[in-house]
Parts: sequence; structure tokens; C-alpha cells
Amino acid sequence: MADVYILGIESSCDETAAAVVRSGEQVVSSVVYSQILTHQPYGGVVPELASREHLRAIVPVVRKALQDAGKSYDDIDALAVTQGPGLAGALLVGLSYAKALAYALHKPLIAVNHLEGHVHAVLLEERQNANRELEFPVLALVVSGGHTHLFLAEREGHAWRYHDVGHTRDDAAGEAFDKVAKLLELGYPGGPIIDFLARHGHADAVKFPFAQIKHRDRNPQNRYGPEERRVDFSYSGIKTAVLRYVETHAMRSAIEQRARTLRQIVNPSREDVLAACERQTLDLVASFQRAMVQDLASKTLLAARENDAATLLVTGGVAANTELRATFERDASQQGLQVYFPSRMLSTDNAAMIATAAYPRFLMHDFAEPELSAEAALRLR
Ligand code: KG4
Ligand code: ZN
Repeated sequence: MADVYILGIESSCDETAAAVVRSGEQVVSSVVYSQILTHQPYGGVVPELASREHLRAIVPVVRKALQDAGKSYDDIDALAVTQGPGLAGALLVGLSYAKALAYALHKPLIAVNHLEGHVHAVLLEERQNANRELEFPVLALVVSGGHTHLFLAEREGHAWRYHDVGHTRDDAAGEAFDKVAKLLELGYPGGPIIDFLARHGHADAVKFPFAQIKHRDRNPQNRYGPEERRVDFSYSGIKTAVLRYVETHAMRSAIEQRARTLRQIVNPSREDVLAACERQTLDLVASFQRAMVQDLASKTLLAARENDAATLLVTGGVAANTELRATFERDASQQGLQVYFPSRMLSTDNAAMIATAAYPRFLMHDFAEPELSAEAALRLR
């Protein structure tokens, strides 16, 4: 079959991204403009600022993706864009731009669910490594700043179908990393810095109990019937538990001291943050990460057993976490399960995953209607 070049565009949260991917298997170019510096002072993504930054970045980012690929618009077979889920105003920037571009170029446009993008990031990586065979059913854990979701994926021809077998009832796992880092004045985003600091602390210093949420699905629409067991997550409690630990162990003054120290450094490095952390903070951070990772791994592996999954994919920003990767690899292999991760580059938000998820839809001529609109709460099915 002839090569198919898809230009992907992603703007669902705080990254403006564009990429050219060949036939869903080779990244030809991938440009990610991160807004981290814009949101850093607030310790989280500010939606209005995100939309403004996307507006500024979208044109140069798309141009650079084409330039890096050595392609012109003529060489592109289709455009793909994230329709949702995400921040409404942020999604709208990428979507409006992609629609206008597709219309002007007379090229088809493919709407992609951001979560499906994260799943396909792993497939893309495996295809690039010449591994084409995945055993189905596939269980995918999508774990990021906005989502903690378990999907059971099946394939019929080119079409992918997803069943939600568990998700977070409140905060996403990445959100918990970000909130705990903010509480302890470690900087933003919290995940990468906690990942680094945790290596310097004792993970068994503090115990965090988790609610074991498991129940039978009462949704009569569920094709697996009401007997299907769901495994859900909940991460708002651990943030409160960390706060309580801080209060009961008189850590406030150390936290304020760290904030003052780091404020005097322009763009503090992770070593600067480490130097500003006393033992108690490092132990707390290591214990927090251990608790998060164990909860994610044990519930995912439970869902894998209950749904007879043959393959496990772990993807999304939090999938970049070192301890999470090691734990999943160890525990999955004990269960005789293959586990795949995307590289760190493809773990966090990017547009290569959007162009990849669009490829099977391209083959099915599943193109977007002109009235396509952004959907902040778009579900994956
Ligand atoms: O997928 P992503 O780039 O954006 C969303 O769709 O949310 O994920 C960003 C999230 C942030 O919460 C960030 O703290 C977390 O992923 N993250 C990590 C790591 N790297 C990024 N969490 C834990 N460990 C990491 N190494
Ligand atoms: Zn994401």
C-alpha cells in the first residue's frame, strides 16, 4: 500500500503540538511547544492562559512540523486533530485551525479522541521497533494529569473498540503528583520532580492506605453484562493525607524555607530542589510515590486478570515515571503478561500519537463532518 502521510494537531491541554506520521508507523516529525513556563507560577494549568498560548503557537508549530518533515501541504494525505477530552478553549484552537486548513487544502480531516491517541502512542513505538504483533484483548492504562482510565481494547478489522473497565472517581494520578508537589513547594509539574526526589528518600517511611474500590457494574448498557467487575481509582484522599502528615509533623516552616530558597534561584534545577529538601520531605515524597505506583499497578493487574487481558499498555504523562515502569514490568511479568510503554517523548502529550490514531480511520474513510466541534468531556468507546 502507498505511504500515507497524516499531519496531526494537538491542543487539548498545555502543549501545542503538530507532527507528521507515515502510515501510523513512523514519526517523520514531531514538534511540541510546552507552556510549562506560563503555568509554572500558578502550580497548575490556567485554562485562559492555555488558550492564549495555543493561539500564539499553533501556526509556527504546524509550519515547523512540516518543515522538519521536509514536506509541503501537497504531500499530506489527511489532517488529524484532537476533538476531546480536554480544556474547551484549548481544544477549540487546534480544532478550528485544523478545520480551516483542511477546508483550504481540500484534504480530509480526522477527529481523534485524545485518550485513543495515548493508546496509539504505544503502538506507534512498537511498530517503530518492528514489533507488529499485539495479542488481544489489550488492557490500556491511560494515566496523566487529566486522566486515570482503564480501557479494554478490541479490534474488528481496522476499527478499534474500547470498553471502560475502570477510571478515577475524583482526581487523576498526575493531578495528585502535581498537587502534592505544590503543597510541598517542589515546583511544577510535580511528576518529574517527585520521580527524581523519590530516589533520595525512604519509600517505607510513611504508610498511605488506599480505598479498594471494586464493584459490579450496574450499567445495563454494558455489553459484558451487569456481572462485569470494575476497578476504580481515587486520588483525592492521598493529597489530604499528605497535608495531614505535614500538619502533624510540623513541616510547615521547612516548606516555607524551601519556597524562599527556591524563589531566589532563576529556573531552579532538580538538583537545586533536592538541595532544598530535608530528609523528612524526601521520605514523604518517596512514600507518596510508592503508594501511588502500587495502587496503580495492583488495580491494573487485577483488572487484567478479571478481563483476561493478553497484553498491557501503560501510557500518558505518568507512564514516564521510573518507579512505575519498573513496578509494572516486575509485576506484569510475574503474571505472565507483556507490558508496553511509549518512550518518554511519546508518553506526554504530543501530536504524533494523534496522527497515528487517525491512520486506521483514514483507511476506513472515517472523516469528520464540516460541523465537527470540540468536546471537552468526549468519551472513548
Ligand atoms: O499526558 P500529559 O502530558 O498531559 C495530560 O494529558 O494530562 O501528562 C502530564 C502529567 C502531569 O500531571 C505530570 O506531573 C505527569 O504527567 N508526569 C509524571 C511524570 N512526568 C510527567 N508523573 C510522574 N512521574 C513522571 N516522571
Ligand atoms: Zn494527555
